[in-house]
Formats: sequence, structure tokens, C-alpha cells
Amino acid sequence: MKKDQLIIGIETSCDETAVAIVKNGRDIIANVVASQIESHKRFGGVVPEIASRHHVEQVTIVLEEAMRQAEISFQDIDAIAVTEGPGLVGALLIGVNAAKALAFANGIPLVGVHHIAGHIYANRLVTEMKFPLLALVVSGGHTELVYMKGHGDFQVIGETRDDAAGEAYDKVARVLSMPYPGGPHIDRLAHEGSPTIKLPRAWLEEDSYDFSFSGLKSAVINTVHNAEQRGEVIAPEDLAASFQESVVEVLVTKALKAAKQYDVKQVLLAGGVAANKGLRKALTESFADLPEIELVIPPLSLCTDNAAMIAAVGSVMFEKGKRSDLALNANPGLDIEG
Ligand code: KG4
Ligand code: ZN
Repeated sequence: MKKDQLIIGIETSCDETAVAIVKNGRDIIANVVASQIESHKRFGGVVPEIASRHHVEQVTIVLEEAMRQAEISFQDIDAIAVTEGPGLVGALLIGVNAAKALAFANGIPLVGVHHIAGHIYANRLVTEMKFPLLALVVSGGHTELVYMKGHGDFQVIGETRDDAAGEAYDKVARVLSMPYPGGPHIDRLAHEGSPTIKLPRAWLEEDSYDFSFSGLKSAVINTVHNAEQRGEVIAPEDLAASFQESVVEVLVTKALKAAKQYDVKQVLLAGGVAANKGLRKALTESFADLPEIELVIPPLSLCTDNAAMIAAVGSVMFEKGKRSDLALNANPGLDIEG
């Protein structure tokens, strides 16, 4: 009988210090996340220097907790997967160095992985992937449509030309005086209002799967400022509902069109904005008419940054023979197709 494969995942690319242990690429044995959101809130966004300091303080504690939960020792581990990019360079470096130290000290193979590939592979912790597939990646730093013919094979068929969806959510939330990260607050507010305010949708060229959210963000800001100047009050819940409708309509329409054109078997939702209730509902409704395409939406805990997804993609990369040496470095601009 084949021995179970056990992979440690380490994630420190932004504001969560996370370590997880995943069995055979699919089963979560331990999944520990230490969030720093409280420390960044008062600055209205992630402060890179503070993020790095927290990662230094947390990484060993989080690792020990994950190993304790899993009730295993380092001798049982097949590989250590770590996010090498993209992300904040100082934050990435903490995870990369922790992984290298651990790999060196215990003689365990090291595998550097791509953060967005991790978000996509969060879906493999829900169900087996069926190729060809399309992933709609919507996070704080990325908005992309990724086509995959097989494991570890990523082709970006569309991406944002300016702001990422999550970034637009966070900026709009700031205008409405909501705390960071604003996405969940706008999402909640949107459900209390009606989409009565006319806002733009950036469809771009007819055949393009690219996105653009900066015009929408500016339109929201202008709407708020113009109303203030005229002494009018705009109901924030209606503005949130209108903004959310615009974002969701573009994301769902483009994902649906790409899924049909590329004739995929599965559509995977990935990234922090995948936690958005409006997006989850709209996608579910749209794909209900296409029973030949399976829509997969991970649970909320696997949508935002975590290390189980890093171990999940690490498992596949390890099986494909990928090994990183001790010269592995943080790469904030790492390309998913490379
Ligand atoms: O993937 P993620 O955890 O970090 C990055 O890799 O960027 O995504 C964080 C982003 C933030 O912009 C946050 O506001 C957004 O995901 N987000 C949401 C929701 N929950 C988190 N955006 C909209 N609706 C939500 N419910
Ligand atoms: Zn992320």
C-alpha cells in the first residue's frame, strides 16, 4: 500500500501567518491561521513593516500549533511548501526563511509555490479537480481568469488592468468610513440596500476577458463627493448594493462566457472576494442553467489567506517533481504561468 503523503504549507505573503498540514493533497490534518487584521485596522490597510514583524513573532508559534494538532513529527513529512510570491517582500521572506530552516534542519524537500495557485487549489480541498477547468480568482491583489488543462498548468486568459476586485472593495469601504478590510462590510451592507444608483460596468473590448475596476471606484467616490457638495444624503446601503451589483455582474458575465468558450468541465471560485455572498449567489444561479459545468465554491475559511491551500498546491508540485533549493528567495512579482 502506498504511504500517505504529508505536506506542510507555510503562508506569510500578506497579513496572515498560516501553517497547515495536508494529507495526499486533499485532506486537512491541521490548519492554523494567525490574523494580524486588528494591528493594521487603525492604519486603514496593511502596513508592510508591521506585517513582517508579526510574521517573525508568530511563525514558530503557528508551526508548533499545527504540528501539535496533527500529532505528527517532522520525520513523517514528505515536503515543505511555502509561498514564494507574489506578495509583500518582507512578509514573504519570513515564511521562505522559516521553510528553508525547517527543510535544512530536518532534511525535508522544499517546494516554493505561487500564492494565487494556492488560492485555486483551495478548491481541491473541497472536491477533485476536473480538467479542463476555469478558475475565477478574485483577491485583494489579483483578479484573473485562469484556464487549466492539467495540474500545475496555469494560463491567464484575462486579468485586471488596474485595481483588483478586493482592492476596489477596500477603497470603496474607506470612502464609506468602514474599517479595513472593507469587503465583508460592503457585502453585509449591500444586502440591506437596493441597487438604485447608476454605476458603470467596464466591459472593455468585445473579445477581452480582462477587467477594470478603477472607473467604478472613481464613480463611487464622485457620487459620494457630489452628494456631499449638494448637501444630499446617499443611503450607504444603496451605494454598497449598487457597487456590488456592478462588480458581480462583470465577474459573472465574463466567467460564464469564458467557461462556455473554453468548454470547461469545472469552474472554480478562488481568493478572498470569493467569500462575497452576492458573488457566490450570482455564480450559483448563473451556472445552475449549465449542468454540464460543475461550479465549485470553497467554504469561507478556505477563501481568505490560509496555508492549507499552499500545502494543496505544494502536494501537486511535489508529485510533478518540483524541488526548490536553499537559495529560494521571496519573489514579490512571481508569474503564475512561469
Ligand atoms: O485573498 P485574500 O485573503 O488576500 C489576498 O491574497 O489579496 O483577499 C483579501 C481581500 C480583501 O480585499 C477583502 O476586502 C476581500 O478579500 N474580501 C471580500 C469579502 N471578504 C474578503 N470582498 C468582498 N466581499 C467579502 N465578503
Ligand atoms: Zn490571498
